[in-house]
Amino acid sequence: MEYKRSKKWVSTLNNMGYMSLTIDPFTKKFIDFCEKNPGIKVFEGGAAYGVATHLALRKGALVTANDSEQRHLDLLYKYTPQNLLPALVLAPGTLPYDVNFLDNTYGAIYSSRMIHFLRGEEVEACMNRFFNWLKPGGKIFIIAESPYLGCYSSFISAYEERKKQGDPWPGLLKDTSPFKSIRYNNIPHFLNFFDVEIMKRVSKQAGFKVEVCEFINRKDFPPEIRYDGRESVGLIATKPLTFS
Ligand SMILES: C[S@@+](CC[C@H](N)C(=O)[O-])C[C@H]1O[C@@H](n2cnc3c(N)ncnc32)[C@H](O)[C@@H]1O
Repeated sequence: MEYKRSKKWVSTLNNMGYMSLTIDPFTKKFIDFCEKNPGIKVFEGGAAYGVATHLALRKGALVTANDSEQRHLDLLYKYTPQNLLPALVLAPGTLPYDVNFLDNTYGAIYSSRMIHFLRGEEVEACMNRFFNWLKPGGKIFIIAESPYLGCYSSFISAYEERKKQGDPWPGLLKDTSPFKSIRYNNIPHFLNFFDVEIMKRVSKQAGFKVEVCEFINRKDFPPEIRYDGRESVGLIATKPLTFS
């Protein structure tokens, strides 16, 4: 099995969209955090072929890489330099329920463009698990897609109307087919788009203190996927040292 690493985007093998080979500002902050904390134990959820995992390993982190698709993790492992393999653990399974760890295990948790594949109650369970797995003072770095994507632009008015009506999950699409995108065949029918309010709400509900939560201008996305600079949502949040 192979994937072409010369491209900017690589298809997933399970129709779960694409893995980005470029680094957005929130991923950069996660990698910088690893660099500042040598030997830190981190978890990556939905790692695909491991672009972020490999960068974190190179900064000296001990990485547990998760994905629901074993073939992605096989390739992640295959492309890990031999000298970094002792710092890598693979944790295959579908979040939030297939994998579990002891409370206070990780110094940081990173997950990019995976959480919007989960239903509302799964998102909440995932954030609760991330909270429990983190050590006090640890940070989460989460990136999710918003509905402000060129390929789903026909959904935006429905999303905005639902949001106005107070729907807690206005970006939830059980069937994306009426809003067919050009890359439709490689993306699940179910999507649960995020916005800044949703991301802040679910992280606060889980107990996190939000440091930064904002839209990400995805200049790195292909032109037909870009919309108006709000294509993704990024979060950095901390597990407080003491609970109030
Ligand atoms: C769109 S790709 C994103 C890959 C990479 N993190 C990035 O930002 O480019 C989503 C990845 O998450 C994985 N995934 C989807 N749902 C998942 C779940 N519930 N638990 C774990 N991994 C999941 C998919 O197999 C896929 O590799």
